[in-house]
Amino acid sequence: MTDTAVAPHRGLEGDEPAAAWRHQVIYEIYPKSFADDNGDGVGDVNGMRSRLPYLARLGVDALWIAPWYPSPGADGGYDITDYRSIDPAVGTLAEAERLVEEAHEAGLRVIIDLVVNHTSDQHPWFVAALKAGPGSAERARYTFRDGTGTDGSLPPNNWFSAFGDRAWTRITEPDGRPGQWYLHTFAPEQPDLDWTNPEVHSEVVDILKFWFDRGVDGIRADAVPAMAKTAGLPDTPYDPALGFQSAIWTDAPNWDTHEIHAIMREWRAVADAYDPPRFFVAEAVTCSAERLANYLRPDELHAAFNFDFLRAGWDAARILSAINTTLETLQPVNAPATWVLSSHDETRHVTRFGRADTSASLMGFDLDLNSDIAKGTRRARAAALLQLALPGMACLYQGDELGLPEVTDLPEEALQDPIWERTGHTSRGRDGCRVPLPWGGTEPPFGFSPAGTRTWLPQPDNWRHLTVESQESDPQSMLTLYREALTWRRAYPDFRTGGFSWLDTPPEVIAFRRGKGIVCVVNLGATDFPIGDLGTIILLTSGPTNGGGLPPDTAAWIAAPSERSAP
Ligand code: NOJ
Repeated sequence: MTDTAVAPHRGLEGDEPAAAWRHQVIYEIYPKSFADDNGDGVGDVNGMRSRLPYLARLGVDALWIAPWYPSPGADGGYDITDYRSIDPAVGTLAEAERLVEEAHEAGLRVIIDLVVNHTSDQHPWFVAALKAGPGSAERARYTFRDGTGTDGSLPPNNWFSAFGDRAWTRITEPDGRPGQWYLHTFAPEQPDLDWTNPEVHSEVVDILKFWFDRGVDGIRADAVPAMAKTAGLPDTPYDPALGFQSAIWTDAPNWDTHEIHAIMREWRAVADAYDPPRFFVAEAVTCSAERLANYLRPDELHAAFNFDFLRAGWDAARILSAINTTLETLQPVNAPATWVLSSHDETRHVTRFGRADTSASLMGFDLDLNSDIAKGTRRARAAALLQLALPGMACLYQGDELGLPEVTDLPEEALQDPIWERTGHTSRGRDGCRVPLPWGGTEPPFGFSPAGTRTWLPQPDNWRHLTVESQESDPQSMLTLYREALTWRRAYPDFRTGGFSWLDTPPEVIAFRRGKGIVCVVNLGATDFPIGDLGTIILLTSGPTNGGGLPPDTAAWIAAPSERSAP
């Protein structure tokens, strides 16, 4: 077996201020579904506080808390009415401040979500814009335009919403006449801010400082490529069959325009003025890895979620290509890679990996519900070892560590994601990955809320074997696997700062070396793969091995003899 070294990955080391983030494991918390302290069936800040010991024991380094701000909930909290406080259903600002302090005491950093492509339609700015009328300073904070056609009854251009249907909604003016249209890249309840307006810039800088002053360590920036639009708002050349999901994004006037980068530089300067400097991770879906790297230039954001890896599914060639492309494109900008398998927007990977099509479609648009969960779980275990051995940051979504499957049979009346309505009930959207976590007990609410409470999304009755409580005492459980993997990752510097080189294996097997001694090997093929000559000391496997053979859908971490020491 020979090693093929890839160009040294500069992102592995460094003494620049953000170096400390380069190998962190981030754990995404979806607040309403993590833990419910006050017994109303909705997760809350005090629930998070009570579970900090669990998160510290799991071995992650940082928490990303999805939006916790006041919100009417038209898009799961991504429609915000007040950026400087906490949704009363979730807690108070004082509790959030305590959470940040307590997380720091537990050795965990805190990243919060910043959603400023749009506000809620109930944000005071938008309410004022509706009242103020065309041409007003209030309307200029958003993207209002007159309609087209003889009576203005046609939208200003052909843009689609990311959630399906058109991206414009016509309002009724204060005098009762049909009026202007406003742009919403997402739901109509999420009007797009106008980032050509300096007032929008200064407001967001002030919001950043508000949270940085409270000790928040970083920001996950939502929907970054949507923020700046090409002047004049020209039509987009969509593929008519694909609509917004269209691949023709390279020069789309509504996505990933050059103007966005000035905003990124403005934010970076704010973060760099803090001690320690604050950190940004971007949610930026782009048409190519090169375009993504543009957001990670030294004076822009620090890292970005890796959707190529997530979309690669359980396919050796696609995974290999995603890893290579990621490392190659991030090297020139010296940004760390991130490795993501699931999030609050994706079908959970246990379910995806058990399907015929294992890739992610993004935003829950997939309708293939049949899945072999046992197979998906086996693969998810192997994928965890792959994800945690790759160089850079790993991003876990709450419940990954429990091997939760997607809940594909939520009753229709329980569905809350706007995608369900906006696609005319053709896509169930993302609620199935947002079901409250099972902590303990044998029946819903599984310790998420006090017994007898109805949770905001119903949990399946058959999750008793997936609870934290039942997995803690099971040496074969997904939770045990994650804890062990994260322990080894901390114990061996090679996992964090060691170089990366591919090993020469058959195409259906992925194998690479980190540093001098650690090898990660993943068998995506249909027959056992002999691992005898990769090293004799097996640190961890995702499933049983057959003597010297690694079975299909199984991964192993192997160390050279000199590397072994118990963590
Ligand atoms: C990306 C978020 O992750 C998603 O949940 C949300 O619907 C959109 N951005 C709009 O804010």
